[in-house]
Amino acid sequence: MKEPHMKAVIQTALGEPGRALALTDIAEHGELSPNDVLIDVALAPVHHGDLHLIRALSGIPAQPGHVRRGSEAVGTVRALGAEIAKKGELKAGSRVVGFPAVGAWAERVVVPAYCVIPIPDDLSDEVAAQLFINYVTARMIMRGLRKSVTQDALSKGAVLVTGASTVVGRLLLYFMLRDGIHPIGLARSEASAERVQSEISGVSVAATADADWRSRVASYADGRPIVGVADCVSGALVGDLVPLLADDCAIVTYGNLGGGPIGLDGFDVTDHQYVVRGVTFVRWFTEVPPDEQAADIAAAMKLARELPSLFTASNTFNLEAFQEAIAAVERPDRSGFVFLAPK
Ligand SMILES: NC(=O)c1ccc[n+]([C@@H]2O[C@H](COP(=O)([O-])OP(=O)(O)OC[C@H]3O[C@@H](n4cnc5c(N)ncnc54)[C@H](OP(=O)(O)O)[C@@H]3O)[C@@H](O)[C@H]2O)c1
Repeated sequence: MKEPHMKAVIQTALGEPGRALALTDIAEHGELSPNDVLIDVALAPVHHGDLHLIRALSGIPAQPGHVRRGSEAVGTVRALGAEIAKKGELKAGSRVVGFPAVGAWAERVVVPAYCVIPIPDDLSDEVAAQLFINYVTARMIMRGLRKSVTQDALSKGAVLVTGASTVVGRLLLYFMLRDGIHPIGLARSEASAERVQSEISGVSVAATADADWRSRVASYADGRPIVGVADCVSGALVGDLVPLLADDCAIVTYGNLGGGPIGLDGFDVTDHQYVVRGVTFVRWFTEVPPDEQAADIAAAMKLARELPSLFTASNTFNLEAFQEAIAAVERPDRSGFVFLAPK
């Protein structure tokens, strides 16, 4: 008898997604491990991080293999492993998010039970599917910033947020305003800067398209030293920031939208005693105590209800159109997340 198959986007080589990915029929999952959950995927976001992984990371088998792509998904529980079924916390048919859900660009995905979050009915699929990686990343960046800059310096200084139009960037601006930190956003285009300013009241955002953006940033700092940078652009932009930064500034780096290495001269780092700190949401699972994790998840859902405009959607594509979805993610001036919907 022929084994059941399903469609999944798999990676067979390193490099540009157009060459490295294929939509393939693969064998269905066999018996579930005791603490695994099988989810029917309703919607899976295409994160920039997914594209970085496809382009940059090693670990692709020499033989074309089944390296499945996609990292987060909302869907319904189809089946439970024996142990997790006994606990009774999840049931077949429950609406859940897999955070993370490795291999989510597929009809179905298997996720360890500790990565499965039940979702209330009042959160739409579009919000739920993009909520947790972005929210937890922003919380981890705030934790990273606080490890590297004293509370006194944060309260007297200003913090620059690059990639200000991204979901994570807008969350950071929101958290900082709320926590009494003076944030300054830096977006690419004037239109993006204006969009963010109109969405988050009280925030100032400069645009690198403005030839005079450094003076704009300095005027938004209003005499405060820039004691931190939350950066997801990397490349030459980080070097361009140097004249604006205070000594001992912490550069918290978590993305690579601009491509290339962090453009910092070693002499500048030494001379100004900068602190460079990397952040990845993945460390939330190992570094953040369970009570704080539970608080983060509850706070993410609360914020999604109060301010859903932080988590907007642009287009949804079916799995066959995954290359169009990837192109849509990289289109300038996109507002909202891009998703794949297997059905
Ligand atoms: N470290 C982690 O654990 C982690 C987790 C999640 C995300 N990230 C990283 O965070 C970054 C943002 O992710 P996201 O999902 O929040 O993004 P997103 O919401 O999809 O942001 C997309 C926006 O980024 C802006 N952008 C694209 N290229 C840019 C560039 N070269 N310079 C400035 N802005 C640019 C574009 O805005 P405009 O066209 O309006 O300029 C685009 O609309 C990515 O680098 C991602 O890899 C890291």
